Amino acid sequence: MSHLFDKLSVRGATLRNRIGVSPMCQYSSVEGVAGDWHLVHLGSRAVGGAGLVMVEATAVERRGRITPGCMGIWGEEHIEPLARVARFVKEHQAVAGIQIAHAGRKASQAATWLGGHFLSPEEGAWEIVGPSPIPFAEKAPVPQELTVEEIRAIQRAFAEAARRAERAGFQWLEIHGGHGYLIHSFHSPLSNRRRDAYGGSFENRIRFTAEMVRGVRAVWPEERPLAIRLSCTDFAEGGWTLEETIELAKALKDEGVDLIDCSGGGGVPAAKIPVGPGYMVGFAREVRKAAGILTGTVGMITQPWQADQIVRNGEADLVFLAREMLRDPYWPQRAAAALGHKEWAYVPSQYHRAH
Ligand SMILES: Cc1cc2nc3c(=O)[nH]c(=O)nc-3n(C[C@H](O)[C@H](O)[C@H](O)COP(=O)(O)O)c2cc1C
Repeated sequence: MSHLFDKLSVRGATLRNRIGVSPMCQYSSVEGVAGDWHLVHLGSRAVGGAGLVMVEATAVERRGRITPGCMGIWGEEHIEPLARVARFVKEHQAVAGIQIAHAGRKASQAATWLGGHFLSPEEGAWEIVGPSPIPFAEKAPVPQELTVEEIRAIQRAFAEAARRAERAGFQWLEIHGGHGYLIHSFHSPLSNRRRDAYGGSFENRIRFTAEMVRGVRAVWPEERPLAIRLSCTDFAEGGWTLEETIELAKALKDEGVDLIDCSGGGGVPAAKIPVGPGYMVGFAREVRKAAGILTGTVGMITQPWQADQIVRNGEADLVFLAREMLRDPYWPQRAAAALGHKEWAYVPSQYHRAH
């Protein structure tokens, strides 16, 4: 019996299945504001049957965008356009989620389809920040080292973003703590060489995250789930490790985090990543077992049986699909048919005549 279509209840939210639309930048916002593209893109995936539909990395402050087209939630003007997306997603019985983020030293880049390079001053580059003045790559700009006051201001910006996400009607909040962006860059000794309370020992490198999560949990409603995406390893010598991820997961569980979305890499360009189908499932399995917390997995999961096996074997509680969801928003319907769940079909009234 397959388990991919089992419901999952976390606090007050119930997902209709274990399939999540992984957050994916669309580079289609103007000044961070969600537009028609986002409504149609995310709305299609809710109609397609996913249990959780997640809005892309959404910047908690303007300079925390990866690209000029990235989504934002740093102002009042962002709330209503996002609320329109959340309303539609919920109307189609998916849980509406949003990933809040700060790009840190990987901010100020061009959209991938424009080359994905760091912007030049002529292209509108902005000042980037990080735990230490260490550039992401040889030719990347040097981030400005954050002062303790600035660290506190960004932590507050995460909490304010959570408040706005609540007002926009999102039911699920994920903090982006992976892929080399600001939070992950504090975790990794390869990007954090601070000598104050925010660098050095493990406790110091996770302090930014632990304090920020505490601030977010204090304002994010009790009945709504809080998740965090972590890069579980840097895949690089001298970098952040899976063992550290497990210890961090335990600490964050104590702070009221409900689920660890287990990803990897992105912190340094020289990482050696063994890419292949389900290559990060082991992270979710180990974190789930050792920290006793719900986990999500992501990374080259494309086949219904593959996704089902992960849930059935207790390796992860939630399976996120990214590129496969771009190829086919109806993947959940296809998976239900393939796994013999004929009773499971989300068909909006408008499409009933086809079924
Ligand atoms: C177009 C695109 C945009 C992405 N944007 C984000 C993002 O906003 N936040 C994030 O955590 N990961 C982002 N990712 C990574 C995906 O969520 C996912 O972790 C990765 O693509 C691996 O999953 P896949 O093999 O199913 O594509 C993005 C990936 C793609 C392809």
